[in-house]
Amino acid sequence: MIAPAITGTGVFTPSQSISNAELVEAFNAYADRFNAEHADAIAAGEVEAKAHSSEAFILKASGIERRYVMDKSGVLDPDVMHPHLRQRSDDEPSIMAEMALDAARKALKQAGKGPEDVDAVIVAASNHERPYPAIAVEVQDLLGIRGFGFDMNVACSSATFGIQAVADMIRSGSVRSVLMVNPEICSGHLEWRDRDCHFIFGDVCTAVLMERSADAKGPHFDILSTRCLTQFSNNIRNNNGFLRRSRPDGVADRRDMQFMQEGRKVFKEVLPVVSEHIAGHLADEGLASDQLKRLWLHQANKSMNDFIGRKVMGRVPEPHEQPNILQDYANTSSAGSMIAFSQHSDDLVDGDLGLICSFGAGYSVGSVIVRKVM
Ligand code: COA
Repeated sequence: MIAPAITGTGVFTPSQSISNAELVEAFNAYADRFNAEHADAIAAGEVEAKAHSSEAFILKASGIERRYVMDKSGVLDPDVMHPHLRQRSDDEPSIMAEMALDAARKALKQAGKGPEDVDAVIVAASNHERPYPAIAVEVQDLLGIRGFGFDMNVACSSATFGIQAVADMIRSGSVRSVLMVNPEICSGHLEWRDRDCHFIFGDVCTAVLMERSADAKGPHFDILSTRCLTQFSNNIRNNNGFLRRSRPDGVADRRDMQFMQEGRKVFKEVLPVVSEHIAGHLADEGLASDQLKRLWLHQANKSMNDFIGRKVMGRVPEPHEQPNILQDYANTSSAGSMIAFSQHSDDLVDGDLGLICSFGAGYSVGSVIVRKVM
């Protein structure tokens, strides 16, 4: 079988970021206005007053300190409370394609490859701004790549499931090289007026170039093994979501048309599934956890990652063994573990083993075991 490898990665980070302090100030101003506008109904017990959000709660409950977004002006305007994402004409590159181009070019550059070396593009993300034509085909066109492209969605596990799909294609010989990109515009499907979740997400795009290991031009990571798991749950759900709020129609006010979750239940139910999944994957590959030099975990919640790190390693991992990026990026859905991988893997040396693992809606869990090759 042909050995697949990750030969390049890239991260597009939006230029605008929102601190917890800015976010909470905007939310509280919105809540005060809402309560004033509905004072009579609140007094009559017909409408529930909106409680204030708090910086201390956000940091303690999640570990998030700030998040990058494509537009902060709308999110921080108490009269708007969603990003202003301009409706683009069909002749312009879509916003997801634009983010993807930046990340993809960085991944190609790192690998020392050009569009002519790539056979396919996959856009794997939690939300796609249209059903068709696929964003991947647009990215393929904009980069000048021959071959094919398709979109896929497994929510927070889109990237790891994408890696498995590509690794299998490379192993079978149907492609030599694939760009897998994860443009996540989470701000477009987050309900910024709900204090239980308004702090959770940020925007970003990651890209991974995967090739035959033998075609790598520089240091790379061989993909030794991949493992995917799904188990149905309604505890993280979005009945429509993407960019809907920027449109002036009645649907925009239905709460189920944005991201919703039962955060506590997710916490309780997902942790054992993920720990068991990783333990099973390592055991099947004949690996012990102390052989892993690094864990690049999904970035949703610091306590969750600390728990999984402890479970997998059987001890508290050193910070460099389990790097977190969620303090700066917040939860960026499928891109989170890929940002951690891209930004915290250069120091590993030949032969070092590591594990990428994502988890989230579906439920879904995806794990990838990699080995550094210098
Ligand atoms: N500011 C202040 N207080 C807040 C608040 C905010 N922004 N948001 C919620 N609270 C309150 C709640 O109303 C609740 O009050 P109560 O005890 O009076 O009912 C209290 O704080 C605790 O809320 P809870 O939701 O139980 O907090 P938590 O410790 O579970 O943390 C999450 C919330 C969402 C950070 C956490 O559950 C989580 O990260 N879960 C996993 C989510 C996940 O991985 N999702 C995947 C998404 S892709």
